Amino acid sequence: MASGDATAAGQRRPVDSDTVPGSSDFVVVANRLPIDMEVLADGTVNWRRSPGGLVTALEPLLRKQRGSWIGWPGVIDGPEEPITEDGLQLYPVRLSGEDVAQYYEGFSNATLWPLYHDVIVKPAYHREWWERYVDVNRRFAEAASRAAAPGATVWVQDYQLQLVPKMLRNLRPDVTIGFFLHIPFPPVELFMQIPWRAEIIDGLLGADLVGFHLAGGAQNFLFLSRTLAGAETSRASVGVRSKFGEVNLGSRTIKVGAFPISIDSAELDRHSRSRAIRRRAKEIRDELGNPRKMLLGVDRMDYTKGVDVRLRAVAELLAAGRIKGNATVLLQLATPSRERVDGYRILRNEVEQQVGHINGEYGEVGHPVVHYLHRPVPRDELIAFFVAADVMLVTPLRDGMNLVAKEYVACHSDLGGALVLSEFTGAAAELRQAYLTNPHDLEGVKDAIEAAVDQTAEEGRRRMRSMRRQVLAHDVDLWARAFLDALDDTKCVQRGVAR
Ligand code: ADP
Ligand code: F6P
Repeated sequence: MASGDATAAGQRRPVDSDTVPGSSDFVVVANRLPIDMEVLADGTVNWRRSPGGLVTALEPLLRKQRGSWIGWPGVIDGPEEPITEDGLQLYPVRLSGEDVAQYYEGFSNATLWPLYHDVIVKPAYHREWWERYVDVNRRFAEAASRAAAPGATVWVQDYQLQLVPKMLRNLRPDVTIGFFLHIPFPPVELFMQIPWRAEIIDGLLGADLVGFHLAGGAQNFLFLSRTLAGAETSRASVGVRSKFGEVNLGSRTIKVGAFPISIDSAELDRHSRSRAIRRRAKEIRDELGNPRKMLLGVDRMDYTKGVDVRLRAVAELLAAGRIKGNATVLLQLATPSRERVDGYRILRNEVEQQVGHINGEYGEVGHPVVHYLHRPVPRDELIAFFVAADVMLVTPLRDGMNLVAKEYVACHSDLGGALVLSEFTGAAAELRQAYLTNPHDLEGVKDAIEAAVDQTAEEGRRRMRSMRRQVLAHDVDLWARAFLDALDDTKCVQRGVAR
């Protein structure tokens, strides 16, 4: 699983009957399990690493903690039997076809996702989607309640499960509940569009600690807690890792803070230095025809990621002769994502047309300018791509953090490479030495790409050294420790214990 490759279901076994639910001191609740079930055409079952940054961040961590993970196995009407894997206990939540259509594709990904990402596409509001969201959140809360030991810590993840904290608190007042949002928390004016806005704030306020990537999200949440829940809030700064705001609601105090997520930087740094990865990186460049410059994009196929923006910029740079088709190659990897949701279908068509256009205009037989793979690639192969690339293109219109940017930096111990990074990612707050750009300003994106392609080795080293210092010093362990320590502190607050 850790490598991202498919593994046979036969290698996993049901939890021993004596390891009964209700025994876990540490429980993660997320929409997806860290592995996705896949039923092949011949009926065989494979399990693959699930897509997205949440799994990248939490999976190694939970493995160390030997905790439990509650989530959806990624298929309709999937299994419900608990699975144990290498010390990690997985409790699948079964979703029906209607659940997937209304809770996952509907309310989570056609209402909340576009709304929280600055309405890049128009959010749809449907009462039946909301009702299903409530119902599925209740089933996740019940599963968490069954898994958690008395006094356990339960860590609820992301926008799909914002009602779980309150539901779980009602079921199990003895557990300590943390909630972390992996995507941006929107400006107040946008959040106020939601017909069920008060219920969502109420749901989140069931937690003891609510965490966001950035201080801005925490401030928005404090404002909404006052406006929609009638709570009192402290004016404390929430901008620095160790500072928090507070919401006072009846007899309860809820902490609110900013915790920028990260990656297992040291592990990626070590792995990317290995001889096998270096050899593969060189082979990749050979296979691409040894271009003068190799550009790379690595994303889920999502309209928030700005894949279309960078392709437009590259096409215009080629047209103007500012980069040369015979000297430059762009490799774009795009993991399939939420393919039945309209905005995603439209984006895929658009991206594939753009790739066809660029190759038709500027490619040669056997030498396309854009190499495009619409599939996840194994982890080792991905690391070799990061090592091989001269310029990494990360151009989202909005992104909570963007771990890909940090992964690229962690893979460049040679101090080579350049990062073009959208200002509208959480990562931009930390990686100030990237070629920062506004993805809505196409001329600006073109300038940033050209500057990154043409940078001197000395300039590149200076920028990369500074970004590496940041990424290596602020890894996923630090993120988790900061969150979990703050969550632990809330136990003292709730019990009135002096610290
Ligand atoms: P998000 O959570 O929105 O998908 P992130 O950039 O934070 O975005 O995290 C994406 C994670 O998925 C990263 O760990 C990245 O390496 C991985 N990933 C993205 N695309 C691919 C791909 N085509 N193959 C394998 N892993 C991928
Ligand atoms: O944080 C972004 C996120 O939505 C995660 O919750 C999720 O794991 C990831 O992106 C991938 O999305 P999905 O589970 O919808 O494929």
